[in-house]
Amino acid sequence: MRGVTAVLHGPESTLGLGRLLGSSLGDGDVLALVGPLGAGKTTLVQGLAEALDLPSGVPVQSPTFTVCNEYPTRVPILHVDLYRLGSLSEAEDIGLVDRLFDGEGIGVVEWAGRLPALIPPTALWIRLEHQAGSRRVTIAERDGGDLSWLIDQRTPTGVGPWEESSEMPWAVPSSH
Ligand SMILES: Nc1ncnc2c1ncn2[C@@H]1O[C@H](COP(=O)(O)OP(=O)(O)O)[C@@H](O)[C@H]1O
Ligand SMILES: [Mg+2]
Repeated sequence: MRGVTAVLHGPESTLGLGRLLGSSLGDGDVLALVGPLGAGKTTLVQGLAEALDLPSGVPVQSPTFTVCNEYPTRVPILHVDLYRLGSLSEAEDIGLVDRLFDGEGIGVVEWAGRLPALIPPTALWIRLEHQAGSRRVTIAERDGGDLSWLIDQRTPTGVGPWEESSEMPWAVPSSH
């Protein structure tokens, strides 16, 4: 199976998918998020952080200007936003490459399609897109890895049903 896709009916389901991922991921895992402004990328990160016991009062926001945020979660989350980052060498200069490949904590990268070379080959690619008032999510790994660990879990409310997909989330143009 190349990948999976499902409709996310409302923000609560995007949060639910994020929580599901948060309950499964650990040190060294990286999520590469793709999708236009407003697609729900940060909402997914919120769910992820909640599942990893984000202390109350710590905001989860797109680090558009700061490039990366770090959350003091059970497994630390490095939340990266490439919207304003120009090049891979810029990412290297601020230590981002090392931090995404060092096997510590969970990395989650918004606008990952802008600098695919920054994304470890084992990352889970997640594309979110607008679909009527809802969103569609498409998930795949570059090597076509098996995602049954994800879809065999109890599907969060409002997500749903998973279907197989041959689309490649990383292949979508990352236009602003
Ligand atoms: N599945 C969904 N259906 C409808 N609205 C959603 C869904 N998921 C998230 N949203 C809403 O979309 C808006 C933008 O979400 P956000 O996570 O900030 O997007 P991004 O980080 O991709 O720009 C928020 O108001 C959020 O509540
Ligand atoms: Mg965002």
